Amino acid sequence: MTNDVRTLEWTGDGLRLLDQTVLPGRVEYVVARDVGTLVDAIRRLVVRGAPALGVAGAFGVAVAVLQAAREGWDDAARDAAIAEVREARPTAVNLAAGVDRVLPFVAKGADAVAAEAQALLDEDVRGNRAIGAFGADWILRRVGDRPLRVLTHCNAGALATAGWGTALGVVRNLHERGRVEMVYADETRPLLQGARLTAWELDRAGIPCVVQADGAAPSTILRGLVDVAVIGADRIAANGDTANKIGSVGVALACREAGIPLVVAAPWSTVDPALPDGTGIPIEERPADEVLAWGGARTAPEGVDAFNPAFDVTPARLVTALVTETGVLEVSAGTTPARFRA
Ligand code: MRU
Repeated sequence: MTNDVRTLEWTGDGLRLLDQTVLPGRVEYVVARDVGTLVDAIRRLVVRGAPALGVAGAFGVAVAVLQAAREGWDDAARDAAIAEVREARPTAVNLAAGVDRVLPFVAKGADAVAAEAQALLDEDVRGNRAIGAFGADWILRRVGDRPLRVLTHCNAGALATAGWGTALGVVRNLHERGRVEMVYADETRPLLQGARLTAWELDRAGIPCVVQADGAAPSTILRGLVDVAVIGADRIAANGDTANKIGSVGVALACREAGIPLVVAAPWSTVDPALPDGTGIPIEERPADEVLAWGGARTAPEGVDAFNPAFDVTPARLVTALVTETGVLEVSAGTTPARFRA
């Protein structure tokens, strides 16, 4: 994030989270000193975005270890609490990976767990800087070294990570080089991560942006108003199939039709090598009210139910490039994560 606002911070006895549910109207924090508070914060999207969830999961283990000592839990109760954190949301593989990374430190105590979680946080910020530079280099080579019109979907910024951002890390890097003409930020129904969070971040960074309805995105692309689309990811299968916020597939199809690149920016921790393709990615279905009501008032007729998948899976053939902290994989041309690592 910028210097004054941090997405996540370890306080020594808990995890302080910037409450993303009340942005941009209010800057408030939730401090999780027990597992119940943290799991609730993850489910309500107080903290969200795959890399941020990974860091929250890692610190969540420290929270569980401290709570277990405080409340006299046995190891089984502590491990059940850790499992609850790990499973609080299903799609972003980073959450489980963040928990798993620090498990070997549990026997050494909460400070050791928190130190490893802090290492993950620091790596994430460094990785995002690298993603930003690799992505910007690739885009300027591929699309042209001039001010560009960039479309993004959801929020893959500093708020969705430990800092700087993945997709918005690329945008920030392009902006530092004077190569951003305009960012089209899809509003991202139903929880408005684009309108509330991406626009907030871009505005604070002085990057020109407009918010558009999700339904406008394919048309904006087909009208020739966009040079490149850059999105984040929640889980990427070995073949490059990419889960990201619902609506990403429409953006990808329009990019293919218009002949512009779709760039996915994500750290290697978002790649799930255990999944050969995207059919095995668990897609979170969220509460019906998020779609059927607005501001507490029902918008759809009583008695009508909702279908509310939070993510979709873009087939690898539509992913022009995957930008990681180690470089760029041209996925639709055949450089899948599995091939690259093989
Ligand atoms: O439901 P959310 O807000 O957690 O969804 C987040 C996204 O889909 C992001 O694009 C993704 O996690 C990448 S964040 C760098």
